[in-house]
Amino acid sequence: MSTIRKIAVLTSGGDAPGMNAAIRAVVRGAIFNNLAVMGVMRGYQGLIQNDLVEMNSKSVSNIIQQGGTILKSARSKDFLTPEGRQTAFDNLQKNNIDALVVIGGDGTFTGARIFAQEFNYPIVGIPGTIDNDIFGTDYTIGYDTALNTVVEAVDKIRDTASAHSRLFFIEVMGRDAGFLALRGGIASGAEAVLVPEIDTDYERLDSFLRNSYKKEKSSSIVLVAEGEKMGGAIKIAEEISKKHPDYDVRVSILGHIQRGGSPSAFDRVVASRMGVSAIEALLDDQKSVMIGMVNNEIVYVPFNKALKNKKPLNPKSLELIDILSI
Ligand code: F6P
Repeated sequence: MSTIRKIAVLTSGGDAPGMNAAIRAVVRGAIFNNLAVMGVMRGYQGLIQNDLVEMNSKSVSNIIQQGGTILKSARSKDFLTPEGRQTAFDNLQKNNIDALVVIGGDGTFTGARIFAQEFNYPIVGIPGTIDNDIFGTDYTIGYDTALNTVVEAVDKIRDTASAHSRLFFIEVMGRDAGFLALRGGIASGAEAVLVPEIDTDYERLDSFLRNSYKKEKSSSIVLVAEGEKMGGAIKIAEEISKKHPDYDVRVSILGHIQRGGSPSAFDRVVASRMGVSAIEALLDDQKSVMIGMVNNEIVYVPFNKALKNKKPLNPKSLELIDILSI
């Protein structure tokens, strides 16, 4: 029998569509298993400031379709200090909370891992980030919605690019990872994709554009991940424009639009499965693990493993761009 009677849930780091669906699943999964639940406002910062609210089934009504996070999010500097973490622990004790579910990305799990070790405290993580850059899970909550936002935006830009025969460099989010750019590029039929994982071969890009945009195509779209090593879409567009003043070049940076909006059905289902699985993991005495999804099955991934490894891009997907952009 598990000794856990009361848990708390928080969202931390960059918000992602589907976080609310995950909160709902954690809260209802807990109640289903006769656990009391509290919500922590503004991630670890709220824990330090003892900003917690009681949650019941009704507190999570009507949120599955909402973007953002009803618990709000933050990147807490105080939680990086031992004093901050001690205060957070004291507040958990004060509120009789036996375990924590944290929803976020690698920054969130790094904090969770340290905290769990320092206080021997049970924490289970749920991967929520549009970047999809967490090792040990095929998907992170929010990625699918953001991907669809990217594709919708690129489709629209394609209309105007084509009307004016322009070359567009479109920058997408992803921090140090190219998942959004790569999949977004495949799905929107981009002519080229530049990702942080592979050093940009400027000469190759230049000659490709000379042969495609210049010679044959009415428009071209290059998707650039924000972490691309040459400096991103603006920098590359500058270089290309300098070399080819005759090209009609434009840059579009999609920005935070990628983080908002109603979550896709896929994200809602993944979030719901992961949320309930997080409660089951805690009741199964799991500690310091992230809930992952691999081949459509739920897996437990130790924080150490999720944080130590870099998730690779699928080489087949990279190859697809080359094959399909001829
Ligand atoms: O991790 C999610 C993410 O949206 C990244 O893609 C991006 O680099 C970063 O967060 C932006 O963070 P902020 O909202 O703090 O500017």
